[in-house]
Amino acid sequence: MYCLFGYHEENTAHRAVFIMAKVGTPLPPYFNIDPDAALTDLDLPTGSQDFSDIAEACTRGRSDLASRGLNETGSKSLRLFSTWEITRYLIPVAQAHFRRVLKQNPDLPQGQSETEGGAKWFTLDEVLRLRAFFGAQGSKAKNYLSYRPAGQPAKMVAVANFKGGVGKTSTAAHLAMSAALDGYKVLVIDLDSQGSMTSIFGGQVEDEWQTAFPLLARHYGEYLRIENQRRLDRGDAPQPLDEALGAAMEMTARDVIQSTHWSNIDLIGAQLNLYWAEFQIPVWRMQARGWKLWDALTDRLEADGVLDEYDLVFIDTPPALGYLTINGLAAADILLVPLGASFLEFDSTGRFFDMLHSTFASIEEGENVAARALGRPEMAFEWDAVRAVITRYDGAQQGELSALMQAYLGKTLSPHRQDFTALIGQASEQVNGIYEADYRDFNRETYARGRETFDATYAAFKRLLLGVWRRGELAAQEAAE
Ligand SMILES: Nc1ncnc2c1ncn2[C@@H]1O[C@H](COP(=O)(O)OP(=O)(O)OP(=O)(O)O)[C@@H](O)[C@H]1O
Ligand SMILES: [Mg+2]
Repeated sequence: MYCLFGYHEENTAHRAVFIMAKVGTPLPPYFNIDPDAALTDLDLPTGSQDFSDIAEACTRGRSDLASRGLNETGSKSLRLFSTWEITRYLIPVAQAHFRRVLKQNPDLPQGQSETEGGAKWFTLDEVLRLRAFFGAQGSKAKNYLSYRPAGQPAKMVAVANFKGGVGKTSTAAHLAMSAALDGYKVLVIDLDSQGSMTSIFGGQVEDEWQTAFPLLARHYGEYLRIENQRRLDRGDAPQPLDEALGAAMEMTARDVIQSTHWSNIDLIGAQLNLYWAEFQIPVWRMQARGWKLWDALTDRLEADGVLDEYDLVFIDTPPALGYLTINGLAAADILLVPLGASFLEFDSTGRFFDMLHSTFASIEEGENVAARALGRPEMAFEWDAVRAVITRYDGAQQGELSALMQAYLGKTLSPHRQDFTALIGQASEQVNGIYEADYRDFNRETYARGRETFDATYAAFKRLLLGVWRRGELAAQEAAE
């Protein structure tokens, strides 16, 4: 009862030959591959010029997709929010009270309905106005407005792990959206040249000049100018500022910040050219050894007054510990490290922390040798809070492993687990994540469960944030006494 057959699928170039061990029980596909058949499938060896041809084919395909409306870029718009969703998730009031307040205050947004007498829907801007109204008029005990102590700076949050695909971008994007829904003003900075965060927020980025790159370049340029003055004083020739640096010296953070379809989320986007920074920064550092590259992002955002305009800055980083990530990490007050509850991710996250230690300790050491020699105060990096966060959690399979991770990591591992949810992948092309999806497109139970896990991710983060702000507030009060 053994037989052998093959077939040739005309519309693909691939020829598959299946060998049946027994009728009905095929051997796995990696057996009996005929080397001659494999050879006929093979094309000529690839040279560097071929990459250009492949890239060109992609460009042509991309414009074809775009012309069919399948691109991610076109301008995005955010869905509306229903009375049910607002009173259930966003403003803690009973629906009846909400309706009563709207009726009594005809100047407030009244929402729009799809059918006569149907449910009322509101834009995000309207939700924010309603929240402000309840915050000003409603009961103080009700928590309508989220806490941000006066005089405390915006908090910067970096999401990083050099392991790829652990949920950095998903976590950062969902946190940015939940914080925005919670009434905070948010800036998102994409430091990953893959630009996933940028496409989630519909960012338009032509080249590196519309990314964080010019901020880093300007920081270097400013240093070079000071350094050149010192050179001149010593009688040495100054180092020239090339044309690109000259252009960067004119730019501020405001030039690279763009608004998004979320009225209270702005973006500094990324695209492939941002990767150039990974080559350029070490060259600059060679030319000016004293340049503190790790301070570039923080210094420029502070110098341009950007931090006064936001409550929270979320920084998405690439899966690498390169110069861009170091800048993002050094800028951050809070560091979140997503990882899955698997042996491999636990293992590589451990190595990531080890790399963080050696990177930042060696920067400190380098700086402090000079500081000690000059009798200046030594520098040390410090983060308000660092938390590993388990993502894509499957309680049925990963309970034991995550409990073990918790035992070893203690407080560093957030006790919250971000469940695996199919909702993330299910949302349509134009919609990113749970907060952008219309709950009517899902079974309500599935929606509630998916939303619950990201609401819980936000709650765990918010607890950390409020603790950090409160600590700063108390320290400021104490200092003033
Ligand atoms: N809680 C979740 N449930 C289900 N899928 C998830 C969840 N979080 C992330 N994913 C999926 O896992 C994949 C990787 O997520 P994401 O892109 O956020 O990771 P990343 O760490 O930013 O990756 P990279 O290192 O490439 O930047 C994505 O397909 C995403 O949709
Ligand atoms: Mg990512």
